[in-house]
Amino acid sequence: MRRKLVAGNWKMHGSHKANADLLAGIAQARPFGCDVAVCPPFPYLSEAAVALAGSDIRWGAQDCSAHEQGAYTGEVSVAMLAEFGCRYVIVGHSERRAYHGESDQLVADKAKAALARGVTPIVCVGETLAQRDAGETEAVVKRQLSAVIHTLAHCAGEMVVAYEPVWAIGTGRTASPEQAQAVHAVLRAQLRAATAHADAMQILYGGSVKPDNAATLFAQADIDGGLIGGAALKAADFVAICRAAG
Ligand code: PGA
Repeated sequence: MRRKLVAGNWKMHGSHKANADLLAGIAQARPFGCDVAVCPPFPYLSEAAVALAGSDIRWGAQDCSAHEQGAYTGEVSVAMLAEFGCRYVIVGHSERRAYHGESDQLVADKAKAALARGVTPIVCVGETLAQRDAGETEAVVKRQLSAVIHTLAHCAGEMVVAYEPVWAIGTGRTASPEQAQAVHAVLRAQLRAATAHADAMQILYGGSVKPDNAATLFAQADIDGGLIGGAALKAADFVAICRAAG
């Protein structure tokens, strides 16, 4: 049995006070029967690390640079994140692909940079509504994942994958458990062809996961937890989703 992972993607939300309350609310609800992680914005990562010290709740970043170091104004390297205990980094979120023009190869390079420092990349893939309507879902997610598989090569089994249909993110319109499972099965098969670790890898679903739909999504054979946006900002909702995972 794969252990499930529930990761909260806080996006560009939060403040000292709101974060402290949210982290306290999550920490108080421990223990969980699944892996739990939060991904606050960069300026708040070190205080999240302090707030979570001694607990088994992990933390991650929402992005990283593909570069080691250097003249890259505004960027944050994985070495910096790793220095104070970062466990995960989300790469290739559809908002970064759409608003920052991130290519499949850049996403793959970021995933590689993360693994090189022992930080687990959560690699997001997902189709737009137009792509789904055109019957391109499978081709799109396979193309996105394939770039990462090739770049990571023998380390491909060490990433976490997140399937996030773009049309389900922040829209309240979630993929049905069957729709999500069908894509997860495609991704699992693609991973099996690339790595002997595929059956141990976590493939998360993301896109309007809420307390009332989490359990049925997580009951699907190839759904190993969730990447949670809006519902990760309320401790009660996030905790309920973690409980649904185990
Ligand atoms: P959502 O976001 O849960 O608000 O739909 C998920 C994500 O973008 O990771």
